[in-house]
Amino acid sequence: MAKEKSVYVCTECGGTSPKWLGKCPSCGAWNTLIEQAASPAAAGGGQNRFGTQFAALAGASDLAVLSEIEASDVARTPTGLDELDRVLGGGIVAGGVTLIGGDPGIGKSTLLLQAVDALQNAGQIALYVTGEESGAQVAMRARRLGLERSQVQVMAEIQLEKILATLDANRPAIAVIDSIQTVYSDQLTSAPGSVAQVRECAAHLTRFAKASGTAVVLVGHVTKEGALAGPRVLEHMVDTVLYFEGDTHSSFRLVRAIKNRFGAVNEIGVFAMTERGLRGVANPSAIFLSQHSEPVPGSVVLVTLEGTRPMLVEIQALVDDGGPSPRRLSVGLERDRLAMLLAVLHRHAGVACMDQDVFVNAVGGVRITEPAADLAVMLAIASSLRGKPLPKGFIAFGEVGLAGEVRPAPRGQERLKEAAKLGFSVAIVPKANAPKKGAIEGLTIHAVERIEQALDAVRSLD
Ligand code: TYD
Ligand code: MG
Repeated sequence: MAKEKSVYVCTECGGTSPKWLGKCPSCGAWNTLIEQAASPAAAGGGQNRFGTQFAALAGASDLAVLSEIEASDVARTPTGLDELDRVLGGGIVAGGVTLIGGDPGIGKSTLLLQAVDALQNAGQIALYVTGEESGAQVAMRARRLGLERSQVQVMAEIQLEKILATLDANRPAIAVIDSIQTVYSDQLTSAPGSVAQVRECAAHLTRFAKASGTAVVLVGHVTKEGALAGPRVLEHMVDTVLYFEGDTHSSFRLVRAIKNRFGAVNEIGVFAMTERGLRGVANPSAIFLSQHSEPVPGSVVLVTLEGTRPMLVEIQALVDDGGPSPRRLSVGLERDRLAMLLAVLHRHAGVACMDQDVFVNAVGGVRITEPAADLAVMLAIASSLRGKPLPKGFIAFGEVGLAGEVRPAPRGQERLKEAAKLGFSVAIVPKANAPKKGAIEGLTIHAVERIEQALDAVRSLD
């Protein structure tokens, strides 16, 4: 194929340059020029926005009145892996494009191989494009997963044009591209994995999906910082974005929907990595608790709500003498929020950690974003500072505001019931979340409106 000329387009202003420059000649921004194919068929909106191709719009498109457009619900094909279907909103959608991101080694290839095999067994044609591993390596993984009789078509290829030609000839129901970072297009000179290549290739694959009805799944790597040319630049392009979370040292993995044009977000799927691949965990509420035989200082169990299911997660804090510039570190929780909670603890409850290192960790590699974790984090910090454990069977949740007020968490009753079901016996929760009538069997509930009250309640439990 003849090499098309490429242009460099500024991501800030859309200005173009025939060669790469450190500084955009149009707006002067640094490091914003990204290579794009110059042909009109290529991806990206660069030139279209700037006039030269308006002639192509000559044939006007038909208009339709919104109320007359049939709002047909999309047909979904369940993958057969219940936890995956849960995050997808019921299954894969024809013509839908899904991006699955996650750290290397977390289980993306494993999950997708299991999913395409299940779909193939259900009578769908499935194609697995591998750019990272050879066909033999994929076959070895399949053996390990007990899928040695799998009829899934495998193609070891990284050149976009060849992949598209094969997809077009075979028209599979689902195609997995593992991974988008290894695919490159002939039209660009940038290296595979660069922003330009990743974007260009994903755009072509997306267009193919929409035109053919093939469901396309793109695999992308992210680093812990979410950096690297990869999934982040694709999020707006695709229909569904799933992220794998979890500590590669523990066996549990979470798959979280960040964006879903065909279903609810915030839903999570929970898996356990076993000797024979990923197995769904249908009742995940107790998997993120570590087993202490006796309560230890600095540990509080939080009842968090993920999607439609409450989960209990142990929050650990360690407060220790720091040097002249004490550190604040958090794993699985937001660091800025930690700084804020420490200030609230000091100002409203007189708990001072100014000269102390403070470390906070959500056990099991879960990432907790909901503010309802505040109260548990603060009680864990106070407990570590005092060197006193909370009582056995203790749970907490609730958001804490800058004025020291404890605000209710959504669906408090469900959280309390789940905790009671798992045998927890003492709770400190926002007043508005305490049961209005009757009690929850087996659970003593201390309802609080302010952070000082929560700490008083803890002392009364000693
Ligand atoms: P993999 O799917 O290759 O990760 P990714 O595609 O996200 O990079 O998973 C690799 C890890 O999973 C590897 O460390 C081995 C482990 N694993 C199992 O524990 N059991 C299995 O059955 C398989 C296939 C992998
Ligand atoms: Mg892989």
